[in-house]
Amino acid sequence: MTANLQWTPDQSELADLELLLSGAFHPLTGFLGHDDLHEVEAHGALADGTPWPAPVTLRVPGAQAGDRITLLDPEGAALAVLTVTESGHDGLVAGPLEALGAAEHGPFARLRRSPDAVRKELAGRPTLAVTMRGPLDDLSTQEIIAVAEELDATVLLLPLAYGEGGPALVRAALKAREKLPEGTLVVSVPLAPREDKEIDLELREHVATAYGAAEHLAGPEPVTLPGPPHRRGLVVFFTGLSGSGKSTIARGLRDALLELGGRTVTYLDGDVVRHLLSKGLTFSKSDRDLNIRRIGFVATEAARHGGLAICAPIAPYAATRAEVRESVESVGADFLLVHVSTPLEECERRDRKGLYAKARAGEIPEFTGVSDPYEEPDDADLAIDTTHISIEAAVSRVLDTLRSGGWVR
Ligand code: ADX
Repeated sequence: MTANLQWTPDQSELADLELLLSGAFHPLTGFLGHDDLHEVEAHGALADGTPWPAPVTLRVPGAQAGDRITLLDPEGAALAVLTVTESGHDGLVAGPLEALGAAEHGPFARLRRSPDAVRKELAGRPTLAVTMRGPLDDLSTQEIIAVAEELDATVLLLPLAYGEGGPALVRAALKAREKLPEGTLVVSVPLAPREDKEIDLELREHVATAYGAAEHLAGPEPVTLPGPPHRRGLVVFFTGLSGSGKSTIARGLRDALLELGGRTVTYLDGDVVRHLLSKGLTFSKSDRDLNIRRIGFVATEAARHGGLAICAPIAPYAATRAEVRESVESVGADFLLVHVSTPLEECERRDRKGLYAKARAGEIPEFTGVSDPYEEPDDADLAIDTTHISIEAAVSRVLDTLRSGGWVR
């Protein structure tokens, strides 16, 4: 049975898709199939021998040959249709791509021009492309001017604007243009960085060639200077069994931070969230995961703007906690996992809400620690067992960690 599916690729796959459709990945016209991928990884060439440095792949779990997959951006706009001719065990799919319309929104969308349009404007003039992953320093600016003069070439600045830092990089390119020869063009290219520096560089060369450049210079590596910790976003994520003391410590931390001042605080307690943000969700694995993803989404937004978010759900699954960590870190904020490790026996002995008794009596199914799993973190930044310590002492331990990390002063 073949099917018509819809699928939203991840951020780097979407970036690759845009370059495949625009022609910036020429001669590639689609995601790599098995044979090409194998050759690229082994020898840096496609199966027919054409040099190609980097895997360009798309994962659509469960898709099968014959399926037609409409690829969507995260806001639901249809970008292309992929007719699957090949699908692997690992979910990788390949097949002809049909473009449905270029993305016309996003910051600096008007600078995301296709190689065709740029080549037309260059009209055969010799061109020196400069791919940028960070701002140009004086030295590289001088080098560009010298090389362009020697080749009598037009300069084409290609900021490889990908992810959070994309717009800032395009601004840096527009600023650099003021110091470069007249007629310098700026074209924004969403090329996701490849982990292997050499492969990344080769891929940049391919893209530069697609844009009509005879010569390519790679701009300096970006120097990332994260702000000081007290200005960076921070998510303090408490995890632990029901009754372990998460909420009480989290509330104490919130109050202490508000008394100290200097940071904006967003408080996302488990029970509080379930009354509004996650109202109606059950305690099945998939609903718990959705609950944690929602909390992670809100916390990430708060941290993106330099805020401090405190979360205190049970969050029983390690993979879902890791997703939240990744999401927070992807916006340049910090993530602190606090495991409130009070053992089950103690939580159950306290049984403040009487839920353990009900769970034992079979009145609450899928109760964490009783009839549902809790995966102990092995990546906790701090563990606090409240069996023998007071709430004040527990809050102090978290505050001390925040102070010694420089997050609060
Ligand atoms: S999580 O698993 O999705 O992270 P969350 O922290 O939002 O859980 O909610 C946990 C709270 O819901 C508990 O403190 C408890 O009061 C209540 N609760 C109700 N049913 C269950 C259940 N089956 N398992 C755990 N907690 C439950």
